[in-house]
Amino acid sequence: VVPDEAWREEVRRLARERDAVLLAHNYQIPEIQDIADFTGDSLALSRIAATSDASTIVFCGVHFMAETAKILSPDKTVLIPDARAGCSLADSIDADQLRAWKAEHPGAVVVSYVNTTAEVKAETDICCTSSNAVEVVQSIPADQEVLFLPDMFLGAHVRRVTGRENLHIWAGECHVHAGINGAELAERAAENPDADLFIHPECGCATSALYLAGAGAVPADRVKILSTGGMLDEARETKSRSVLVATEIGMLHQLRKAAPGVDFRAVNERASCRYMKMITPAALLRCLRDGADEVHVDPAIAARARGAVQRMVEIGQ
Ligand code: 13P
Ligand code: SF4
Repeated sequence: VVPDEAWREEVRRLARERDAVLLAHNYQIPEIQDIADFTGDSLALSRIAATSDASTIVFCGVHFMAETAKILSPDKTVLIPDARAGCSLADSIDADQLRAWKAEHPGAVVVSYVNTTAEVKAETDICCTSSNAVEVVQSIPADQEVLFLPDMFLGAHVRRVTGRENLHIWAGECHVHAGINGAELAERAAENPDADLFIHPECGCATSALYLAGAGAVPADRVKILSTGGMLDEARETKSRSVLVATEIGMLHQLRKAAPGVDFRAVNERASCRYMKMITPAALLRCLRDGADEVHVDPAIAARARGAVQRMVEIGQ
């Protein structure tokens, strides 16, 4: 399937026929981002999924995102073009492991990143995304223990910003972001001394970036730890002519559209998420034609997970 004008027309026609809204995450391929009704980060897309009038949501992203939309809108049909689009970070903890961890810390508040399965969310007090993780943790009384999962780099970022000692962090990681390492970042920063650094907090290099700034190798005001949505806001504001971007490479498309005069370059050009890229033009067409793959969440699990997801959508508005 070639993503040409005929494909775009067919996608639009079928979406109208199904009364479907098309949502695409910032890591999707450019053709999917451009055909979507809304493109954004996990938090923005969850908010749209919760408020859209359409009876069907087509989620061009990974499975936990579509599941989150279903938890928020149980009466809507939620479709994902390929249900095999998983997430290595979401796979790093299951509900049994979380129950065992909670038993070791009775009374602790559980904060789960949205990159988790519905079963894990059902064991969670508040969900967060990278754009509101700090606010979510700050909303919890300072004397309460917090279990933060599953991403250790995002957890380290939250601990650094909040200064919270009673935050326990699960040792999970996203293979794509963990692979963007500090040595690579230092090398790129040295080659581009005037560039801003936009760094997703899931990256293994986030700590190194702050270390580079602390050591004076990069001006501190050039280092920005941001969610994908935060990167877009910052791109529209930056005075810099060049920006080094540490996240999944799909992000470059929206950044270049938001600020065409800025030279955006990936810190690691191989940082591509194979799960996000399972949403191909052919898969989207099949999804709209056949109404597949439909996303189901056990209603009892969804009911237990809903409060945590709703709190996430409300915090940091
Ligand atoms: P955000 O869009 O919330 O920054 O999430 C990044 C991510 O890795 C999603 O899989
Ligand atoms: Fe999961 Fe990482 Fe892919 Fe995001 S980039 S979907 S966190 S594996």
